[in-house]
Amino acid sequence: MRMYDIIKKKRDGGELSTEEIRYFINGVTDGSVPDYQAAALCMAIYFKRMSVRETCDLTYAVRDSGDTLDFSAVNGLRVDKHSTGGVGDKTSLVVGAVVASFGVKVAKISGRGLGHTGGTIDKLEAIEGFNTAIPHVDFIRQVNEIGFAIVGQSGELTPADKKLYALRDVTATVDSMPLIAASIMGKKLAVGDDCIVLDVKTGSGSFMKTVEDSVALARLMVDIGKNAGKKIVALITDMDRPLGYAIGNSLEVIEAVDTLKGHGPEDFTEVCTYLAAHMLSLAGKGSVDDCKKLVAQSIADGSAFEKLKQMVKAQGGDVKLIDDTANFKKANYSHKVICANRGYICKSDTEAYGLASLALGAGRNALGDKIDYSAGIILNKKTGDFVEEGEEIATLYSNDKSSFERAEKILLSATEIKDSKPEEEPLIYCTVE
Ligand code: URA
Repeated sequence: MRMYDIIKKKRDGGELSTEEIRYFINGVTDGSVPDYQAAALCMAIYFKRMSVRETCDLTYAVRDSGDTLDFSAVNGLRVDKHSTGGVGDKTSLVVGAVVASFGVKVAKISGRGLGHTGGTIDKLEAIEGFNTAIPHVDFIRQVNEIGFAIVGQSGELTPADKKLYALRDVTATVDSMPLIAASIMGKKLAVGDDCIVLDVKTGSGSFMKTVEDSVALARLMVDIGKNAGKKIVALITDMDRPLGYAIGNSLEVIEAVDTLKGHGPEDFTEVCTYLAAHMLSLAGKGSVDDCKKLVAQSIADGSAFEKLKQMVKAQGGDVKLIDDTANFKKANYSHKVICANRGYICKSDTEAYGLASLALGAGRNALGDKIDYSAGIILNKKTGDFVEEGEEIATLYSNDKSSFERAEKILLSATEIKDSKPEEEPLIYCTVE
């Protein structure tokens, strides 16, 4: 078998066999397939797509490319939530704490930022001392004792995805349905959770820009999960505006803490409530409606916040930051973004908001770039809000003053102002079971 023939076959619209897909993934894993051929095949898949059978084969090959995690020592049901990636999406911190506060185990393997989207691991590392690379035995012990742990993807878990993820990020091949499905579900199956809730984002800030594509991606991933014997459900949630008002690592941790203390933004609280309720329901805690009440209760009585604190402490993070988020290190500089027109914000290109945050230093432009954890954006206004001429729509934060000009330009040109109020879009579109 030759990679050349596999690339050519897909380029010409052919359907790859199970063996050809295995050959590709094995070659990526052991390094015998060079990056340029792997990237070429990703691009061919991007344009010619894959059948459901090919996507399942790709998922299983990714799953089998490394170790699978042994969770047999965990006492109790494990539930996971995975987002397809968005801007301002800090839901894992909130839903993990809420769900674990009811005794359901959350043993989460999370990722770093990808393209314009943020990653949970980067956000957690904004908490001084927080260790996202604890050994597996400690991870299991923490899950048994506290019920909640979040770590990064280790080298041994789906190494093919680790390599392809980085390659796709720099070759404009992230937003491909079969590649996303295989990447996410390959990891989920390798981790082997009992129940999975997928948060499939839709809109300008997500990898799937239309509701139809998002539903199709959700359907594909749910089918893959069901075939593998998982209890799985997907929610299609809005990413046509950032989630909440904070974009950037420590700013988002602060917003997540505010939410667990009961005073988070309405949209973010609602998405977290739905996701956590579905997680609890899959874990047998009642109907989704009953579980929504449980979520509200765990926030109101402080038990979810207490769970986050326990998790942060167990992983070496500075709990003083969580107790009082005013203790987070602030960026040296801030800059107010002023609106030149009067009217309603009728559209925001959310991907561009993510890129503006990246320009401030909150993400990476190249592998290995250092992150400025205090950098980011606090929005004052979002889609649907009315703004006066000269009103402040956002504040930018960075330790690099020179980044403000570019970030401001991106943000302003991504914000469309019109005279009439736009129609309200749903926050949660539908559920794919
Ligand atoms: N998240 C993943 O884990 N993989 C993708 O390809 C996209 C988002």
